[in-house]
Amino acid sequence: QANEKESMYLVSEFAQKFFQSTLLNTDEGKAIGLSYFKERGFSQETIKKFGLGYSPETWDALTKEALDQGYKLEYLEKVGLTIVREDGGHLDRFKGRVMFPIQSMSGRVLGFGGRILTNEKKAAKYLNSPESDIYHKSKVLYGIYHAKQAIAKQDNCYLCEGYTDVIQMHQAGIESVVSSSGTALTTDQIRLINRLTKNITVLFDGDAAGLRASIRGIDLILEEGMNVKVCTFPDGEDPDSFARKTPYDELLRYLNENAMDFIQFKASLLMKEAKNDPIKKADLIRDMVSSISKIPDRIKREIYIQECSRIMDISEEVLFNTLAQLLQKDI
Ligand code: CTP
Ligand code: MN
Ligand code: MN
Ligand code: MN
Ligand code: MN
Repeated sequence: QANEKESMYLVSEFAQKFFQSTLLNTDEGKAIGLSYFKERGFSQETIKKFGLGYSPETWDALTKEALDQGYKLEYLEKVGLTIVREDGGHLDRFKGRVMFPIQSMSGRVLGFGGRILTNEKKAAKYLNSPESDIYHKSKVLYGIYHAKQAIAKQDNCYLCEGYTDVIQMHQAGIESVVSSSGTALTTDQIRLINRLTKNITVLFDGDAAGLRASIRGIDLILEEGMNVKVCTFPDGEDPDSFARKTPYDELLRYLNENAMDFIQFKASLLMKEAKNDPIKKADLIRDMVSSISKIPDRIKREIYIQECSRIMDISEEVLFNTLAQLLQKDI
């Protein structure tokens, strides 16, 4: 079993090298893949650091090369790089895509995300490796290998949605950043961060989906006893697009000035949505107390109740009663 996993790691590492050398050293790779990354503003250094690559249009380029080099079809198929057809023929899963290798905390290649080169909606924008014995997408965080030192040192982790958010933030000089990439944030992912820091700043996309995901993420993070802030971006921006056009000092200032603790974040939603609607305000206060009820530590709960009371201009007593009811329900 251990040998089998090791074979899967090795073939994944081979594929990562194959995709990268295709990107950097072939005419097709340079013309299509490299120019795509350059257009997105990724430097050569960044491309190498993150091991980015290109999978050629040819239907079995990777599979053929791997088999020639003695890697077994069994493992290529197990990690999902090769799709074996019913007639026995095989093809590359990721052909014609730019490739983002997904690494473990210790730097091993577990799987890939592959992006189509156009923004047409004819195919899924990103195709990801299937679940396998080495890749469990709900348990990995993209970028953790490159971010772990900075996260521990700064005692904070920026959590984004996508591959390019992580890469662009790194290039901009902010390295304590990971992404949940292609899955709704999970408790397992949060626990990976918890090994390095207790503090998470959520940086999800400035759109309705990003907002919903932030709200959901807050409770999961609080449940783990961690501290959560949220920094939102202007509509239509994500950390990638924002970091790309913002100089380092200004970016850092934006993140510091706009990171709100979760109570303030939820209050700001109210300002936007409900304004003077008392029913919406009541719903939102209940929602805030519900988030507070997820916090395991009693002292922290009390502090947040006080903050909520102050911001929403409602008595602490009412909030404590609501909290007590919610905690009762959980038992
Ligand atoms: N994702 C995915 N499959 C899709 C769309 C998205 O797995 N069909 C994942 C990817 O990991 C992606 C993340 O969800 O990075 C966030 O999605 P989105 O914001 O749509 O993509 P971006 O990361 O902004 O990608 P890009 O800037 O390349 O459009
Ligand atoms: Mn397993
Ligand atoms: Mn998005
Ligand atoms: Mn995005
Ligand atoms: Mn984007």
